[in-house]
Amino acid sequence: MNQKIADRTRRTEWFLDARFGMFIHWGLYAIPARGEWVRSYERISVEDYEQYFREFDPVSFDPRAWAKTAKAAGMKYAVLTAKHHDGFCLFDSAFTDYKSTNTPYGKDIVKEYVEAFRAEGLKVGLYYSLLDWHHPDYPHYGDMHHPMRENEAFKEATHDFDRYLEYMHGQVRELLTNYGKIDIMWFDFSYGDMSCEKWKATELVNMARELQPHLIIDNRLEGSGEKSGTIKTQDPSVYAGDFACPEQMIPPAGITDDLGNSIPWEACITLNDIWGYDAHDHHYKSSRMVIRNLVECVSKNGNLILNVGPDAKGRFPREAVAVLEGVADWIRDNGESIYGCGIAEYPKPEWGRFTQKGNKLYAHIFEESINAICLPGMAGNVDRLRLLKDGSEIQLTEYWNVKEYPEDAFFFFNNKRCLSFPLPDDRDTVVEITLK
Ligand code: GLC
Repeated sequence: MNQKIADRTRRTEWFLDARFGMFIHWGLYAIPARGEWVRSYERISVEDYEQYFREFDPVSFDPRAWAKTAKAAGMKYAVLTAKHHDGFCLFDSAFTDYKSTNTPYGKDIVKEYVEAFRAEGLKVGLYYSLLDWHHPDYPHYGDMHHPMRENEAFKEATHDFDRYLEYMHGQVRELLTNYGKIDIMWFDFSYGDMSCEKWKATELVNMARELQPHLIIDNRLEGSGEKSGTIKTQDPSVYAGDFACPEQMIPPAGITDDLGNSIPWEACITLNDIWGYDAHDHHYKSSRMVIRNLVECVSKNGNLILNVGPDAKGRFPREAVAVLEGVADWIRDNGESIYGCGIAEYPKPEWGRFTQKGNKLYAHIFEESINAICLPGMAGNVDRLRLLKDGSEIQLTEYWNVKEYPEDAFFFFNNKRCLSFPLPDDRDTVVEITLK
């Protein structure tokens, strides 16, 4: 392993153990409540969006409650949008007036967030948008995403992009200087020729690593949705990032480098459909689905960061809390099969998935069947089986009809009656297999 990759491996060790995090998309867009892209989709001008800035006052914002919800759900870290594409800053930046401290709310939200989440023992990350639809020096007309991209009034406007970069670098310096230890910096995103050195990314990352040497960074200064960049090579660029971040998908076979070695990755997935609060988006995933998605990520050596979009009052949507409580209920009994676990030495079984940590192999059983449950190729390799949630013994079976498969091991949940259904937990029944 070369030095760059060895450094990355060391930096991401806690992250890969943690496996599960919370993404929080919050800003002025919670008021129009049509998602965080509302300005771009509806071509809203800075002036028309200003009403939300004058109004922003999340009276029910309680970061301790957020942190407790995340912790109970088994999340070990969080990432908050310090600034999203609309340019509104949730922190007291010296470079702009466009910040939470100048709204009726009046406080530095990033500060409140980092303090509350750290108090619950979670690692803290900050999302920072490379795009900025509020800054006058960010390209407007003709840009791919800017709300004024088709507005002829901006056709002749000139923008001093270097001035924007000074602003952007200055804000990143603030975030990494004024808020204590930051564990993750999540830059978003590159597109077209807006990538790499266009962001002065070498300088930016060198500064970030100098300020916070342990910091881990995503790969979007270089990578985009379509390509993850040099993070997959043996010679990653300075700004290749420490982890890949596939969005709204779990990669079919995890993510590996050009030699086939697993690299750190995190799937970012919304709890409903949209990142920022959308009053009409009630399309929530069930806790069962979240649990299975988390298991799938871990079984492929990846992490899951699950997003919540708090509303204009500062509350997590009720539905989101209900889903997370369901996850909490499962994780309390089965967390051991997630943290510090990764891809197993056995291939994916037909009834579900495996995760593994040392000689503990965790069978995540999703599918019920009439058969004894088959552990393919494991005959003679199993020391003992326990139901993870209560430590109760599960016996291997030698029932007559499995005898034709001497390579495999088999068990029933109900050994007395030779039945394996119904499953003890239809979300995901976890059997801890201690290997010989
Ligand atoms: C995107 C979107 C966005 C969201 C992010 C999370 O690239 O622009 O709104 O913040 O993905 O991964």
